[in-house]
Amino acid sequence: MLGRLNHIAIAVPDLEAASAQYRTMLGAEVTAPQALPEHGVTVVFVKVPNTKIELLEPLGEGSPIAAFLAKNPSGGMHHVCYEVDDILAARDHLKSAGARVLGDGEPKIGAHNKPVLFLHPKDFNGTLIELEQA
Ligand code: CO
Repeated sequence: MLGRLNHIAIAVPDLEAASAQYRTMLGAEVTAPQALPEHGVTVVFVKVPNTKIELLEPLGEGSPIAAFLAKNPSGGMHHVCYEVDDILAARDHLKSAGARVLGDGEPKIGAHNKPVLFLHPKDFNGTLIELEQA
């Protein structure tokens, strides 16, 4: 079921500063900021040869990463995103296996204009998992 690692996401308190650091200190290519109001975040992607790193900062009231940043004020690793071929089949399989899908359980459109879902970190060794239909 599990496909490629699509990205690793890092929550940051200041997206502009983090983007500049990746560009200048690490010499990386960083995409332009993309606001995702439905997810309560603004994101950029850092391109590396074998995957991407998503940097995300809170957007609007009640952002799902606000509490995370309150606990981790300098930022921290937030989730990993794996690709799946069929997100509804993956969801149904995981639910029947006892995993909890966050939110209403329906896929939302993610940063790459593809359906995504998040799985409860307590069900996966303390790691928030995002699934993206490839
Ligand atoms: Co992500």
